Amino acid sequence: MDAILTTYNGVEFTIGAAILEFSYLLAAILFVYGLKLLSRPETARKGNFWAAAGMVLAMVTTILLHTDTAGNYIPGGNAIVIIITVAIGSVIGLLISKRVKMTAMPQLVSIFNATGGIASALVGLLEFSNPGNESLLVTLLGLIVGSVAFSGSMIAYGKLDGKVGNISAGIMKYVNFIILAAIIGLTIYIMFQPNPQDVSLMVYILFAAALAYGVLFVMPIGGADMPVVISLLNSLTGIAAAFAGFIYNNQAMILGGILVGAAGSILTLLMTKAMNRSLINVIIGGFGGGGAATGDEGGIYKEISVSDASILLAYSKKVVVVPGYGLAVAQAQHTVHELEKLLEGKGVSVKYGIHPVAGRMPGHMNVLLAEADVSYDKLVEMDEINKEMETTDVIIVVGANDVVNPSANDHPGSPIYGMPVINAEKAKNVIVMKRGMGKGYAGIENPLFFRDNTRMLFGNAKDSLQKLVNEVNTL
Ligand code: TAP
Repeated sequence: MDAILTTYNGVEFTIGAAILEFSYLLAAILFVYGLKLLSRPETARKGNFWAAAGMVLAMVTTILLHTDTAGNYIPGGNAIVIIITVAIGSVIGLLISKRVKMTAMPQLVSIFNATGGIASALVGLLEFSNPGNESLLVTLLGLIVGSVAFSGSMIAYGKLDGKVGNISAGIMKYVNFIILAAIIGLTIYIMFQPNPQDVSLMVYILFAAALAYGVLFVMPIGGADMPVVISLLNSLTGIAAAFAGFIYNNQAMILGGILVGAAGSILTLLMTKAMNRSLINVIIGGFGGGGAATGDEGGIYKEISVSDASILLAYSKKVVVVPGYGLAVAQAQHTVHELEKLLEGKGVSVKYGIHPVAGRMPGHMNVLLAEADVSYDKLVEMDEINKEMETTDVIIVVGANDVVNPSANDHPGSPIYGMPVINAEKAKNVIVMKRGMGKGYAGIENPLFFRDNTRMLFGNAKDSLQKLVNEVNTL
């Protein structure tokens, strides 16, 4: 592998280096191809496979062929240790992914995101004191961004799991601003040291400050605004990996990181648009905390029996299902698909209204419904389905709450005021399926449940849907 292939401008290229470069190019093509396939539910599984294959290829060739500037293979005698470590990590990842409940998937994604962040931060910590490292600024940036992504994602995990509550945004904005200023100041100070290795204590303080910033910047964010933060943290992990790639001059790592960073940034912008929020508020920290009153609390709700609901549905022309987090909790995607097919068989047009932040992770409802083989062209995005509300006979809200909360349109005091929602209340009839009068993620009352045209069908979504299927079958 060490045979000289060619010499260009005095630099010698070995066969090993050529194979390595080619493998990175191939890995890059596989990443991009995988991403393209990921954009459609039908091909997403294949996309995941090909992108993972690109990653395995890049890892194997890096371990076997990557050399430092002196031409020494980087893993050197450590190759075995690296392979064992990777194997242990892979087995743990595989076991966790296989065992995790579908409903805990968003939490798992946050934890995996956190591990990506800490890996890049540790690269920064290790390489900072390496005298051969010429890219000090990149090293420090990787350390900072990776640490923020790590601690921020751990808090996001806690919030998604209901283990971490919100703290008031008020004073936090100023604390965050001070920490951010300290991080910038420390970075500049370290950069201007003649021997930066001598101020390693400062680097550890920088590491601690970045970890603290990650915690404090995510803590005050709550209510319905978490999706923006989750995609932002995802993007930060990619950027941190790209910085780490620069340190090692590893093109596959740089490219992989940039792809994740870019995809995360696009998602963040889409989420801010979906939530009608500005990104700058997210970065400063603390907006839209949950728990506040809407000014329209309580009221009298009406219930509907399974038989009345099934008659209403079976004799409708147009039905729209709005799925939410409760559909994922109940794992009712197959049963809702069954009901859809049954109604379609009776001449009823059935569509699904998909809110961009329904559930607990981007694309959550799309993934669930794709799993149940719901045809993709039945999934209609919020803006489009809202145009059809007045002509909809029945809207069935299955385990959704915040994404159909009319306070977002008509209560300026509401924490979700201004967030675009599916205007379910404009349909002729609304059937809400949930277990009781529990609140949604934003922790606020939903006046939709007390509207004249709304009736509640209480129970676990899967059981209620199954009862509807049985009843519609008899009609
Ligand atoms: P939520 O507002 O969270 O409401 C879900 C509702 O489902 C609850 O009110 C609950 O009421 C009901 N439910 C729970 N388990 C159920 C079951 N087994 N059967 C029937 N109903 C069940 O959901 P949503 O409307 O999808 O809104 C999503 C919220 O999460 C938004 O606020 C969004 O900002 C936030 N969020 C989203 C993301 C992403 S990226 N999508 C990430 C973090 C946070 P009962 O307890 O009465 O049954």
